[in-house]
Amino acid sequence: MLKRLGSFAPKGVVLGAAMLAGAAYAAGTAKPAAAPTVNDSMTKVMSVNAQTIWDISSKAFNHRGDGLDARKLTAKDWEQLRDAARLINERATLLAKADTLVVAGPGEHLLGEEAAHGGIKKTWDAASPKQVQELIEADRKGFNKHAVTLARGMADLERASKTRDVKVLYRVSAGLDEMCDGCHQPFWGTDDPPPPPKGLRTIVGR
Ligand code: HEC
Repeated sequence: MLKRLGSFAPKGVVLGAAMLAGAAYAAGTAKPAAAPTVNDSMTKVMSVNAQTIWDISSKAFNHRGDGLDARKLTAKDWEQLRDAARLINERATLLAKADTLVVAGPGEHLLGEEAAHGGIKKTWDAASPKQVQELIEADRKGFNKHAVTLARGMADLERASKTRDVKVLYRVSAGLDEMCDGCHQPFWGTDDPPPPPKGLRTIVGR
């Protein structure tokens, strides 16, 4: 796995993630070190850093709105882009490499989970942690593929932040939403706010 990831991720990043996992193993816990939960990754790493990338790229739009103007970006902007890309890359890589994944630990809450119902989850139904867990376990390879796609995009952006390449920034930030939703659609099935409570829904539905 490390080899495969090493083909696209900057060496330091892969090593960093590997060392992190290694250190946790070495700590001598009886169970293999658990990766951070999916929920932790989404709420604390993905959403925050994706927002940074979107915010910085949207303020750099040229006057025609069809590309980015490098003059609108400061050295600090590029540093923030580099860091955001690196953090997403590291976490996505960690998720892809983890032996087992836990969607949500005790005390964690999935956006909209209270609207979830048992039984078969249709695509856009709200999902409970258990349902998301089952979806991932049923197709862990597919999940990893999306994580790797995201990590790759972020590795491109990290490199581009060093050369201040607005073309790559534009491509990556414009495609970022799709990289996120490409995984949300099959494994979470919703990126919308939860539907209104049942009573309300029947009224609306009529
Ligand atoms: C490899 C799969 C995968 C990728 C890639 C991915 N996500 Fe997620 N995301 C999930 C899953 C599964 C859930 C549902 C579990 C949850 O809500 O924590 C989720 C949920 C979320 C949530 C809701 C968290 C909550 O409060 O429940 C946010 C916000 C989010 N993702 C942001 C992002 C952003 C932004 C990106 C892209 C930078 C991204 N995700 C990329 C799998 C992914």
